[in-house]
Amino acid sequence: MSQAASEPAVELRDLVKHYVEPNGETLVAVNRINLTIYDGEFFSLLGPSGCGKTTTLRMIAGLELPTSGSIVLYGEDVSERPPYRRPVNTVFQRYALFPHMTVRDNVAFGLKMRKVAKDEIAQRVDDVLRLVRLERQGERRPGQLSGGQQQRVALARALVNNPEVLLLDEPLGALDLKLRQAMQEELKRIQREVGITFIYVTHDQEEALTMSDRIAVMNEGNVLQVDKPYDLYEEPATRFVADFIGETNFLNGVVTENDDEISHVRLGSGQTAHVTHEGKVLPPQTHVTLAIRPEKIFVGTGEPPKVRNVFEGTVKNIVYLGTDTYYDVELPGAVMVTARQQNEDYTGTAASAAVGDAVYVAWRAHNASLLTE
Ligand SMILES: Nc1ncnc2c1ncn2[C@@H]1O[C@H](COP(=O)(O)OP(=O)(O)OP(=O)(O)O)[C@@H](O)[C@H]1O
Ligand SMILES: [Mg+2]
Repeated sequence: MSQAASEPAVELRDLVKHYVEPNGETLVAVNRINLTIYDGEFFSLLGPSGCGKTTTLRMIAGLELPTSGSIVLYGEDVSERPPYRRPVNTVFQRYALFPHMTVRDNVAFGLKMRKVAKDEIAQRVDDVLRLVRLERQGERRPGQLSGGQQQRVALARALVNNPEVLLLDEPLGALDLKLRQAMQEELKRIQREVGITFIYVTHDQEEALTMSDRIAVMNEGNVLQVDKPYDLYEEPATRFVADFIGETNFLNGVVTENDDEISHVRLGSGQTAHVTHEGKVLPPQTHVTLAIRPEKIFVGTGEPPKVRNVFEGTVKNIVYLGTDTYYDVELPGAVMVTARQQNEDYTGTAASAAVGDAVYVAWRAHNASLLTE
C-alpha cells in the first residue's frame, strides 16, 4: 500500500475523551491524539489494557462522543453524526450473533432493517458469505458453528453493509492460538480482496506486527509512535515502545563524545559502547538508555566478530527454548545483558558454553537504539 498514492480515510484531530468517575474525578481515556489513516490501509492500535484503544474506536464509530477534537472521514467532519450516518462498521470481540437466526439471516439483518430490496439482499449475502468462505453454512445457526466460523459471520455482517472503513476491536481475542493465526491470514486476505480501510485494535504485539501496514502504539491515552512494523521494532522511539514490542535489553549510560556517525556511551560497567546516532546527536553528559534486542547480540567463545561492540562477561543463566537459547551474561559492574541465539551448529556461537564460563557478547553499532525517554 503506498501512502503517497492514497487519500486520508480517517483523520483524528486533537481527539480527547474524558470520563467522570463515580467519585467525581475526571479520567482521561484519550489524551489529544492526532492520527491520519490512509485509504486501504491495515492500521492497528496497539497498547496495554486500558490505554484507550476501544474508546478511540468507539469515537470513530460514533458510539461515543469526543469531549473535544474532531473526526474526519474522507474529508468530511463526522464528529456530530450518529453512527448509522458514518460509512463505518464495527466487529467486536463478542460477536453478539442472534442465536435463533440462521447465518444468512444474521448477515441479512441490517439490510432488511434498511428495507433493501429482497433480490439485492440475497445477492449481497451470497457474495459476502463466499468472501468469508461460509457459503455452505448459510442455513446453520451460530450454535452449530466453530468459534472461527462465528467470527466470520460477524465479519460478514459488518462487510455486507459495504463500509468504507471497518473497525475491528480485538476480533480474534476469544479464539485459541492456532485458530487465531489462521484467522489472521483470513482477515488479511479479506482486506486485500475488498480493499477497504481496516482499523484493528489489539494488545497482542505479534498480531499487530504480522498484520498491519502501520501501527500506532498507545499508552495511557497517548499515541507514542506511529510506524511500519519494521521501523517500530528496529527503531523504537521510546523505552515504552521498545519494551512493549518484543524483548529488549536496556543499558543505562552517559554520552561521552560524538563522531560523524557514532555516539560513544559510557555504560554502568565502565565500558564504552558505540552506537550509530542517525543524526540525532546528543551532547556529552546526556543520560541515555541503549535498547538492544536479544537476537542482535552475539555470544561467543572463539574469535570475536569484527564489530564495534565486544564485551567480555560471564554466563549466569542459560535457557534452552528448542529453536533458540537465551544466555544471561554479566558484564563488569553487574550489568546484565540477555542474548538470544538460534540453535544451529553452523556458526561459532557459545553453543557449548555453560553457566560460569567466560564469553564475550558483541553487537553492531546500528543494532542499538539511543533513547532519552
Ligand atoms: N464508559 C466508561 N466510563 C468510565 N470509564 C471508562 C468507560 N469506558 C472506558 N473507560 C476507561 O477509559 C480507559 C480506557 O478504556 P478503553 O476501553 O478504551 O481501553 P482499551 O485500551 O480498549 O483496553 P483493553 O485492552 O482492556 O480493552 C480505561 O481506564 C477505562 O477504565
Ligand atoms: Mg478494549
